[in-house]
Amino acid sequence: MKLASKGMSVLELQDIQKCYDVRLGMFGGRAKLQAVRDVSLNLCKGETLGVVGESGCGKSTLAKILMGLLKPSQGKVLIDGQPLEGFSPKDLSRKVQPVFQNPYSSLNPRKKIFDIISMPLELHELGTKADRRKTVMDMIEKVGLPPSIAERFPSQLSGGQRQRIAIARALVVRPEVVILDEPTSALDVSVQAQILNLLKDLQQEYGLTYLMISHDLSVIEYLADRVAVMYLGAIVEVASVDKVFKAPQHPYTQALLDSVLTPEPGLGLPHVNLTAGFPNPLNPPSGCAFHPRCVSALPECAQHRPQLTSTSLGDVACLLKTDFQQKI
Ligand SMILES: Nc1ncnc2c1ncn2[C@@H]1O[C@H](COP(=O)(O)OP(=O)(O)OP(=O)(O)O)[C@@H](O)[C@H]1O
Ligand SMILES: [Mg+2]
Repeated sequence: MKLASKGMSVLELQDIQKCYDVRLGMFGGRAKLQAVRDVSLNLCKGETLGVVGESGCGKSTLAKILMGLLKPSQGKVLIDGQPLEGFSPKDLSRKVQPVFQNPYSSLNPRKKIFDIISMPLELHELGTKADRRKTVMDMIEKVGLPPSIAERFPSQLSGGQRQRIAIARALVVRPEVVILDEPTSALDVSVQAQILNLLKDLQQEYGLTYLMISHDLSVIEYLADRVAVMYLGAIVEVASVDKVFKAPQHPYTQALLDSVLTPEPGLGLPHVNLTAGFPNPLNPPSGCAFHPRCVSALPECAQHRPQLTSTSLGDVACLLKTDFQQKI
């Protein structure tokens, strides 16, 4: 186990807020949807931070902010201690690279695999043509594919092969951080395991830092050193993977873990056995956003929004675990 949380921070989020302007129906007015709320996180060199939460909780929004694809409404993103706005898109792409869920839509269907992987090298003018050829072919080998694949088109590849190509393209410029947004959820279970193993091997070899987004807790448990649990745009718990899986603090994390015990293959989302459905993000509940679904909620939970607070078992945003505990 790496002692990652004690290391140097390569990526840092400080009090990030993100509001989307949304139209309410065809003739309706506009409203603000807060997709990310008060998120502070840091990513240490060499670690894998898993981000988990239900569909719509803001995981991809957070990832896009980290990659500079979306501007936060408030807050700061620091890369190696420097504000993200100070990086040109080109410089940023050598620091942070994404791997998305659907490798088909992210690979240009009209380009050969060789050109897809060599494009970032050309953009950054790295090496001579011969150097680039060698780098691309080495990368193809590193991701476990045969050299002949270089001459094929994305449509001639399987889903798993395409995801290997997306990984090769992300790593060819040797970024420090890779943002993995559901990288295996479009793949068959057996292929998922191969891709996760590949990601683990490459991380070791290149000393990469990962931010891994998934709604699949088993994926997070396998790959992550630390886990951040998100609910309706906010982080409700952050702790080491051992602590989250052995002693979850937040009632939402507990509910997510319980739902894992009854897996439903083929279903994207975990089936969370809670009293109410996912709240309307345009009209979030008062106090703790989770209180209407929480089996242990007290009247106070509807009034006070709990802050993420350090405990011996990690950071948790729950009045029951912090305020009330301290008063006893
Ligand atoms: N461009 C947009 N305009 C308006 N609202 C958006 C936009 N993108 C996302 N949202 C809303 O913001 C919230 C967070 O969305 P986001 O895609 O970040 O969630 P997610 O956790 O990645 O979900 P999933 O697991 O389904 O990928 C959702 O309520 C979503 O409807
Ligand atoms: Mg998403």
